[in-house]
Amino acid sequence: MSDQAILRFDAVAPLRARVAAWRGAGESVVLVPTMGALHAGHLALVARARELGRRVVASIFVNPTQFGPTEDFSRYPRDTETDLALLAEAGADAAYLPDIATMYPPDFSTRIVVDGLTEGLCGQFRPGHFSGVATVVTKLLNQAQPDIALFGEKDYQQLLVIRRAVRDLDLPVAIRGVPTLRETDGLALSSRNRYLSAQERAVAPRLHRVLTGIAEGLSAGAEAGPLVAKGHAALDAAGFAPVQYLEIRDAETLAPVTRADRPVRVLAAAYLGRTRLIDNVAALRS
Ligand code: PAF
Repeated sequence: MSDQAILRFDAVAPLRARVAAWRGAGESVVLVPTMGALHAGHLALVARARELGRRVVASIFVNPTQFGPTEDFSRYPRDTETDLALLAEAGADAAYLPDIATMYPPDFSTRIVVDGLTEGLCGQFRPGHFSGVATVVTKLLNQAQPDIALFGEKDYQQLLVIRRAVRDLDLPVAIRGVPTLRETDGLALSSRNRYLSAQERAVAPRLHRVLTGIAEGLSAGAEAGPLVAKGHAALDAAGFAPVQYLEIRDAETLAPVTRADRPVRVLAAAYLGRTRLIDNVAALRS
């Protein structure tokens, strides 16, 4: 591990003062919001942040409002000391670790709800999830006041929801997506991969293979319906259960695809045992 120092903030006022001082000195600031349990995908976000700006702040906060009552909030992996060491090693300048009372005081009563974009895909299976995400991200952006904030494309619907909230609320920050980092067998990096048993881990890359198969079929001119049906059957056969969705959507609006002349995204969510995996790939229809 590196012994490079990383500043640590737990409260809003000192964080804002530090960021304001950097920006006042002409140093642009990039925020990388995370829920901790950092892996190489997060560190790729930090690396990209260092390319885009002079100063990098990473936040770590496991946000309760984006977990449903039966989801994994209580068992979500937490290892702050390792996360801080990884961030220091990756060259982040500061870590922001707000506590629950800073983010949600007892009489907290405001929610950000983004309509439309949140209604299908993960939104259908995780009621309230995107409102929790939009609310916490709006707070983090307002607390840190960065020039740029980065989000991974693995959570593609989340990225679009955040972009829309930022645009609709005129928040003075640029939102950038960063391509998904993958294991050599194609599995998208995720903090939840550590829940997978050895047997599940061996099956998990099938999700990406099915998505890329559909993307390749689309660019070769095949029809969407049969491609999706075949992909669904392949996931069922591999042991994903349930497959919550496997869909082709407009890459910008997430609307069901009706026109062939726009970029699309192939997106899926499926369980392997108790672990919910999501992934998506870009596709062009010919
Ligand atoms: O993608 C995540 O890790 C979380 O949803 C985020 C953006 C940090 C908000 O809690």
